[in-house]
Amino acid sequence: MTAPTPWPAKQQYASAVRRPGTVFSHPRLADCEIQLSASGMPLTSTGRNAIVFAARTRDGERIAIRCMSREPASGGERYRALVAHRHAKPVDHGSPLVEAEWVEHGIRLSDRWWPVVLMPWVEGRLLDEAVAAVRDDPAALCHLAGNWRIALAQLASSRICHGDLQHGNVLVDDDLRLVLVDLDAVWVPFAAHLPPAEFGHRNYQHPHRDISQWGPDADSFSALVILLSMRALAADPGLWDIGRAGENLLFTREDLLTPGGTRIWKGLRRSPDPAVRRLTERLAQLCTGPPARVPPLEDVLRACDAGGPPHP
Ligand SMILES: Nc1ncnc2c1ncn2[C@@H]1O[C@H](COP(=O)(O)OP(=O)(O)O)[C@@H](O)[C@H]1O
Ligand SMILES: [Mg+2]
Repeated sequence: MTAPTPWPAKQQYASAVRRPGTVFSHPRLADCEIQLSASGMPLTSTGRNAIVFAARTRDGERIAIRCMSREPASGGERYRALVAHRHAKPVDHGSPLVEAEWVEHGIRLSDRWWPVVLMPWVEGRLLDEAVAAVRDDPAALCHLAGNWRIALAQLASSRICHGDLQHGNVLVDDDLRLVLVDLDAVWVPFAAHLPPAEFGHRNYQHPHRDISQWGPDADSFSALVILLSMRALAADPGLWDIGRAGENLLFTREDLLTPGGTRIWKGLRRSPDPAVRRLTERLAQLCTGPPARVPPLEDVLRACDAGGPPHP
């Protein structure tokens, strides 16, 4: 048996996209202009699995071209299921998810076609940078937390689960509006038969979750981790210096594995905001319980009397 061909490395994609007319066939890509930095290199953003290029189409539209260095689980089927779900159940109250098209014959490299994900370019900074920028501004943090609740409510009402909520997959614009990118782990009813996607970022997932626990409720835990982080910082900006450890907001996997036992938990329990203290206790309980039993964000907020007025 021959080993499967490894997917191209990010650097290989970065060289290839400099010749769009040769490597792309999709009509919006073939004559696009790849955006370059001052030093002449393609402008890129990267995550764990992909490199994303900024480009401009002939019509002047800014697009993002996402090239993957690892095969996403059932990638094509999952993205097509999402598109089908969005068509079957159009929402009139907005969606926080970026529009994304899976292009099977995306980019030609090493004598074969590799898929790419084609999206509109989303302006903004990543959630952790956005939070860092407003960490001394409680009104902005509360506004961001409110927008987070709205985004989660939109997902819930359209029966979509993102599957990997974490700072690197949330872009925030200057008005603190949120867009979710990286749809490799999305769950929609049409994709329920597909194998579970990736596990999600370890600093945001239930500490006892395993990959098989994937379905319509898989966002509940990470949604609460993010909301509590923003609310807690609004009450006490000093928590940033305790909790921030690079790839996270306030919690790391080690914190989630030892609920109540690390410095950040102690800081949260001293929060001047009683709602933050109640949410902290609830999150600690949920960390020790089964991952499948985490209620949706709004239910947790209501039970902890931490929601304030319902989101619009
Ligand atoms: N549509 C988009 N517009 C602008 N930036 C994007 C877009 N999609 C992704 N990015 C940027 O690229 C980074 C990596 O993309 P992502 O899809 O999260 O890949 P990975 O699977 O490697 O995490 C993101 O963290 C974000 O900064
Ligand atoms: Mg990502």
